[in-house]
Amino acid sequence: MAHVSRRAFIGLSIVSGLAGVHASAAFAANAAATIDVYKSPSCGCCGAWVDHIRKEGFKAHVTETEDLEPVKAKAGVPADLQSCHTAFVENYVIEGHVPAREIQRLLKERPAAAGLAVPGMPSGSPGMEQGARKDSYQVILFSPSRRSVLAQY
Ligand code: CU
Ligand code: CU
Repeated sequence: MAHVSRRAFIGLSIVSGLAGVHASAAFAANAAATIDVYKSPSCGCCGAWVDHIRKEGFKAHVTETEDLEPVKAKAGVPADLQSCHTAFVENYVIEGHVPAREIQRLLKERPAAAGLAVPGMPSGSPGMEQGARKDSYQVILFSPSRRSVLAQY
């Protein structure tokens, strides 16, 4: 598929909304995936994370809301794994400042899981750059019944 037509295709998916994105995912495996991000309008680090995933080749569709609790609850993000923003890509949940490369790996390997989380807001994670300070943090692959560490930074 030519680059231009691929972009047009994804554009159509966004216009047709969530259902279109999910329905198109199965046969658009080579196209850039669209990540639906739910964030507070005043969240600066969330905006910086959206910039990060766009820079790494994802499409981002942002919904701003002050009330993220229902979004996290519906997505099944455990309380201790929660962060600032909650996002969705294909059938997975992406919670917090997850590096784009781990999302790419998730979509490539497609493990049976609910999604990925970087709990809290560790300094040095994508969108949380604060000078030289770099906290160590883990990218957690989670499902309702089990968790594992996908990556350690
Ligand atoms: Cu944040
Ligand atoms: Cu955020």
